[in-house]
Amino acid sequence: MYTEIGTDILKAARFLNDGNLVAIPTETVYGLAANALNDDAVLEIYKVKQRPQFNPLILHVSSLEKAKSFVTYIPFKAQLLAQTFWPGPLTMLLEKNKNVSDLITAGSNKVAIRVPNHLLALELLNQINFPIAAPSANPSGYVSPTSATHVYENLHGKIPYILDGGNCVIGLESTILGWNEDEEPEIYRLGGITVEAIETVLEQKVKIKKHFVNNPNTPGQLKSHYATHTPLHIGSIEELMRKFEDDKIVLINFTTYNPELAKENQFILSPSGNIDEAAKNLFGILRLADNLKADVLLAELLPNKGLGIAINDRLERAQNIMK
Ligand code: TXA
Ligand code: MG
Repeated sequence: MYTEIGTDILKAARFLNDGNLVAIPTETVYGLAANALNDDAVLEIYKVKQRPQFNPLILHVSSLEKAKSFVTYIPFKAQLLAQTFWPGPLTMLLEKNKNVSDLITAGSNKVAIRVPNHLLALELLNQINFPIAAPSANPSGYVSPTSATHVYENLHGKIPYILDGGNCVIGLESTILGWNEDEEPEIYRLGGITVEAIETVLEQKVKIKKHFVNNPNTPGQLKSHYATHTPLHIGSIEELMRKFEDDKIVLINFTTYNPELAKENQFILSPSGNIDEAAKNLFGILRLADNLKADVLLAELLPNKGLGIAINDRLERAQNIMK
């Protein structure tokens, strides 16, 4: 299949209408989109991504109003969060109604739903009369794509169209928020909206669920995510460089080059030490680092504040995959 990259929203809409997959830009990462009301198209997502069918998909809609057509009700706190953060990188788990296929929720009675904050994505959603199901547009387990080129590298030949919306401005996937039995909020995945921001709006502490390794009941928390092919180790760069002194090393530094290693084997996430910029650059740099075919990638954790917490979560998950 020939894969075209372009900016034609009507063309993207036509492909979706016909049951085809289209990669779409969002503010977080690129999504692999299908008509969420077409089960065959949704099945094609799992196939192209090589994603197990027990791992559910996020439903993308253009507004809170539209979201209401797919859930039984919206708790007050969810309403508040949606009004504050949508369109934006917050996904909420809400009780689905019969309009949502079990293929999307992997049998769960909760659907993950969000309004993406990207002009092309929103215009596309306004051109079609169905919601979009979309996981990140990478092969299952690999680093998420933050540019049309990233998607092309992974999926060309498998999808007909990539809607090019430039580089994703957040660069990390959305924060996923669910509710416990008492309808108290819980973070299922750290992401583009910080926990502090959510706590400020709700005026309460919000619990972060712990990771579980390969627990099929919590597919959103599979650890083997976001991983490069080259093994990644995180910790003190000095110590790690000593440990791997006989190997070909590539460094991923936060702000400065390490004088002990050639610059061409190093990357900087943000020269000015800006955590948001580091988030935006992270996945692209992980891909570039991976392409150098080193023996190991070494990275240091970022300050544990703001998006630094989500960045560190991604680095830790990338490190924990069995390679
Ligand atoms: O920023 C994002 O969220 C991007 C863009 C494209 O919107 N999407 C994304 O999708 O990251 P994906 O499929 O790569 O990650 C969504 C996560 C998965 O780990 C999935 O298990 C979890 O959300 N998830 C989806 N629906 C769920 C549900 N009903 N219950 C629990 N977890 C769910
Ligand atoms: Mg993903």
